[in-house]
Amino acid sequence: MTDPSAVEGSDPRASVRARVLVVGAGIMGSGIAAQAALAGFPVTLVDVTDEFARRGRENAGRALGHAVKKGMIDAEAQESALGRIDTGIGLRRAEGASIIVEAAPEKLELKRQVFGDLEEIAPPDALFASNTSSLPITSIGERLKDPGRLVGVHFFNPVLQMPLVEIIPGHTTRPDMTERATAFATALGKTVVTSRDTPGFVTTRALAVLVNEAAWMLYEGVATREDIDTAYKLGFHHPMGPFELADLVGLDTSLAILDVLWEGFHDPKYRACPLLRTMVSAHQLGRKSGQGFYSYPAGGRS
Ligand SMILES: NC(=O)c1ccc[n+]([C@@H]2O[C@H](COP(=O)([O-])OP(=O)(O)OC[C@H]3O[C@@H](n4cnc5c(N)ncnc54)[C@H](O)[C@@H]3O)[C@@H](O)[C@H]2O)c1
Repeated sequence: MTDPSAVEGSDPRASVRARVLVVGAGIMGSGIAAQAALAGFPVTLVDVTDEFARRGRENAGRALGHAVKKGMIDAEAQESALGRIDTGIGLRRAEGASIIVEAAPEKLELKRQVFGDLEEIAPPDALFASNTSSLPITSIGERLKDPGRLVGVHFFNPVLQMPLVEIIPGHTTRPDMTERATAFATALGKTVVTSRDTPGFVTTRALAVLVNEAAWMLYEGVATREDIDTAYKLGFHHPMGPFELADLVGLDTSLAILDVLWEGFHDPKYRACPLLRTMVSAHQLGRKSGQGFYSYPAGGRS
């Protein structure tokens, strides 16, 4: 059992359960909100518009509904978890939060800006967690007055079903903040692995190459997308093919990750396949836009 004080920190304003603010109500933010609410945390899910935030809450509800169908939780847990999620616009709601999880798009400047703004609003001992999948934590925190409270807390998609969280302390992250981030992930029922702060950490570095190589094979006409997906699934026992996975992750996010790895290592193995870039320019982002390597006529993110 996790000691709540290890999660909540020393802020006397912290309620019985620390209030969690999730910034960005997209694929990951909605899943993280659902998972935190399920663990009993009151959650505020914010985005740049009210509509995006509300849609994120709906998707959190859908993810919880899916967990009921799979027998992971009962309907009562679903309902009470959804009742713990409220929504808002912008970062003002950080005032009452003791754990802040940023799940905004994979863009360094945007994340720096979000945390810079949060630093002006959030309680001084609130934990800053970034769900970045590839950007170095030290670099995200570069302009903060107190970069010691920023930790990489990398959840996986779909959050309710994936048991792993990768924890990445930045170069100057304080050990107590890493401990709180670990306690938070553990309280959410996740298994934690820790990575050094290097582009792509452990998981994304491996995954990006796998997806990119599949895109190159499709680009070169080696095989069809279906045959490549089938080869990875039946040949390697992967639960999803690389194109199914890229569509789930989002092609914009997959491309941004490859660019971060290229920028960080300057190794040609991270050179993004032009097909990915073209598809992103055409707004074919995968499930979230209704079209990626495959079509999703119903659209949506579930
Ligand atoms: N998609 C995945 O499978 C996956 C897995 C693990 C980690 N991640 C990481 O999680 C983060 C979010 O990815 P995603 O797939 O959820 O992206 P997404 O595009 O689905 O959602 C991002 C959301 O952030 C919102 N946003 C943009 N600027 C904002 C701001 N200033 N304040 C508040 N909200 C803002 C957008 O409107 C959007 O709703 C990225 O860093 C990504 O690398 C993604």
